[in-house]
Amino acid sequence: MTTQQTQTQTPDLTFPAGFVWGAATSAYQIEGAISADGRGRSIWDEFVARPGRVLNGDNAEVAIDHYHRYRDDVKLMAELGLTAYRFSLSWPRIQPDGSGAINSAGLDFYKRLVDELLAHGIEPWVTLYHWDLPLALEQAGGWPARDTSKRFGDYAAIVHGALCDRVTNWSTVNEPWCAAFLGYASGEHAPGRREPAQAVRAAHHLNLAHGLAARAMREQSASSAIGGCVNLYAISPQTDSEADLDAARRIDGLQNRFFLDALLKGRYPQDVLEDLAKVTDTSAFILDGDLETINAPLDMLLVNYYSRFTVSGTPGGAASAAAAPTDSGSPWVGSEHVSFVNGGRPVTAMGWEIDDAGLLEILTWVAREYPAVPMVISENGAAFEDVLTPEDSVHDAERQAYIDAHLRICHQAIAQGVPLRGYFAWSLMDNFEWAWGYGKRFGLIYVDYETQRRIPKDSALWYAETIRRGGLRP
Ligand code: NOJ
Repeated sequence: MTTQQTQTQTPDLTFPAGFVWGAATSAYQIEGAISADGRGRSIWDEFVARPGRVLNGDNAEVAIDHYHRYRDDVKLMAELGLTAYRFSLSWPRIQPDGSGAINSAGLDFYKRLVDELLAHGIEPWVTLYHWDLPLALEQAGGWPARDTSKRFGDYAAIVHGALCDRVTNWSTVNEPWCAAFLGYASGEHAPGRREPAQAVRAAHHLNLAHGLAARAMREQSASSAIGGCVNLYAISPQTDSEADLDAARRIDGLQNRFFLDALLKGRYPQDVLEDLAKVTDTSAFILDGDLETINAPLDMLLVNYYSRFTVSGTPGGAASAAAAPTDSGSPWVGSEHVSFVNGGRPVTAMGWEIDDAGLLEILTWVAREYPAVPMVISENGAAFEDVLTPEDSVHDAERQAYIDAHLRICHQAIAQGVPLRGYFAWSLMDNFEWAWGYGKRFGLIYVDYETQRRIPKDSALWYAETIRRGGLRP
């Protein structure tokens, strides 16, 4: 083959100029320092103390001590060449009881972090809520209580007001599906309640909280870029049977459309409302005007993507491999007879099937079915059984392959006209993986939990090279 032939056949996998190359974390998963500088308690502090809720009884008192090591962590980000870093603010650090007085020492931590990022040329992407609700608000009813949405709007105004002079990119609630249905229906996550009807209220109030926060931030600054963040799954019926197709409709309804339709179309899907009516009277809490609030104009949609679900509506199908280690209920409110079956793909250490093609399906579907809004992949990544070698390396070829495959899809989606503006790997560093404690590692950077030493894995070095090149190797 001549050189010329090789060149003409080599695909150009360069990403558009300005493409955002990032990595993501969340406050509770990395910060530790749970009692430092006046931080209040969150629902997760209380949840981890309950026996059997978190694998090995792990807690996040220290986590990876980012609160004290943030300067070194930012340095690592700069070494990777990240152009952006997505992290969340801990609400109880800033407003210990979720309302009223501000704890300025808590807020100051984020000012220091943001300044450090900017000094290294890394754009801060702030998430307002990544699941650590102030405990006092849970004691007052939690997300099933409408007042929590109002409190969140107030909190958004406080933090946005304090940081919008140096932070442009904001998102509201991370993965409201998880916060509502893992928190209040299955009980796998804090606050560990198994009350399906309350979970539906929680879902609506998380959406409302998003809308109120978006409005509050918009009123303060027209130059902030504001987004909502959803976790979307590609979903397939196991067969073409009516029962399986209906199972796929219901899971897609509760996981994807319930949130997307509300945020981007200002309505809830009628079929999902009908499924949920079996569980609760939604008209009791979805009040006039709420959907207009939720449908606040957005500058971007943040999409977390990990996997595909293959579902069956036939009773007695195989259980999902993705169940948490705790004895939990079902998060699939209104879908009693759905089972999650093995779709026959390789899986990560979470048991989640690897399906990069599903990401293309999701991106093109959203671009086609929803009012045009730029998208960003705000999380994508995988847990694998990492081994630190005596030479201080982690040869995580599977993680690298996972991210590479999904980035190829991102490139393809952009070529097909999807307005995709960036990619954030989950996660920058190994961290506290919720109900799985420290048992699952998602990081590009390995963390030795005994010493807090950080060691970039092979995937991190490869990601850095990808960023430097501005794209993938053909
Ligand atoms: C989504 C969540 O936002 C994040 O907190 C979690 O660690 C990852 N998925 C992996 O489960």
